[in-house]
Amino acid sequence: MTILVTGAAGFIGMHVSKALLEKGEAVVGIDNLNDYYDVSLKKARLKELEPYGEFTFHKIDISDRDGLQQALENEEITSVVHLAAQAGVRYSITHPFSYAESNLTGFLTILEYCRNLEGLEHLVYASSSSVYGGNKELPYSVEQSVDRPVSLYAATKKSNELMAHCYSHLYRIPTTGLRFFTVYGPWGRPDMAYWLFSDAMQEGRPIKIFNNGDMRRDFTYIDDIVNGILKTLASVPVDGGADNPPYRVYNIGNHRSEPLMKLVSTLEDAWGVTAETELQPMQKGDVKETYADIEPMRRDVGYEPTTSLEQGIPQFVDWYRSYVKES
Ligand SMILES: NC(=O)c1ccc[n+]([C@@H]2O[C@H](COP(=O)([O-])OP(=O)(O)OC[C@H]3O[C@@H](n4cnc5c(N)ncnc54)[C@H](O)[C@@H]3O)[C@@H](O)[C@H]2O)c1
Repeated sequence: MTILVTGAAGFIGMHVSKALLEKGEAVVGIDNLNDYYDVSLKKARLKELEPYGEFTFHKIDISDRDGLQQALENEEITSVVHLAAQAGVRYSITHPFSYAESNLTGFLTILEYCRNLEGLEHLVYASSSSVYGGNKELPYSVEQSVDRPVSLYAATKKSNELMAHCYSHLYRIPTTGLRFFTVYGPWGRPDMAYWLFSDAMQEGRPIKIFNNGDMRRDFTYIDDIVNGILKTLASVPVDGGADNPPYRVYNIGNHRSEPLMKLVSTLEDAWGVTAETELQPMQKGDVKETYADIEPMRRDVGYEPTTSLEQGIPQFVDWYRSYVKES
């Protein structure tokens, strides 16, 4: 079994690749190492994977379909975990076309690659909690309508689910979309609040608190996410025939909606500082609250997150200290 992991130099991609390699699977990683955030962090993540003999890496852009075919020509891929995307809500306001290239054209390229792959067992891909837009009913359930995205990023992720449905229907490709809810942890992303707040706390700068702190997030620790992805990969959706293609979408969150100020106080405890705060209005494209109903994923694949914010944040802070010291 050889698993293609796209976005392997990214936060979640590196952890998923490592977990698969630890289990003895062969992993082919691809990533274009774009400069949305510090490329040296992406290279450092790849260094974590290089020691594994069963790991192969190709620097390739998923929107380059000829390049992708060529790079993967001799690989015998049996499953795909598709995580490469232009991530980040706010950046999609200023850089819309990079979202079209990576998240729409790139996603189609992956679907087409899967369509032409003989014996593909399962395509698992990243969607996002942002598809819920301004939905008011909490917790967010996959039964809810998600036709009102409030950012282009969210619109591309919802589009991915529609495109996956189409390929599952037309070509009977087993697909599972996972709507991630605010993932954090070691080797995380420098554009996300827990990292930006940590930088500011270390440098004695005030932290920016949007919507005057009136926000809640379902923060999900990376190890829980990785367990969920691996369990999902092993649980292939069944083809129910005709109008029941092998297609599923799940929320993958922690099922605990925490106030933003709790993130701040947990970081303050972990860093041993008191943060100076600067209250700001709501940012365009942001949503006020997220909270995942994870029951379907719990029932179908046995997903069971166990890490609280109080347990996960110190893990991130310990890693950040050692990473910053070494780099
Ligand atoms: N981290 C979260 O909280 C979160 C929440 C919701 C959804 N997601 C989704 O999960 C997936 C992984 O997110 P992450 O947090 O690891 O982000 P990340 O930015 O760390 O990882 C994405 C990786 O994809 C690569 N990439 C982007 N465009 C590419 C392209 N055109 N060709 C090849 N590689 C490309 C990037 O270089 C990066 O290394 C993404 O699809 C993201 O949208 C993440």
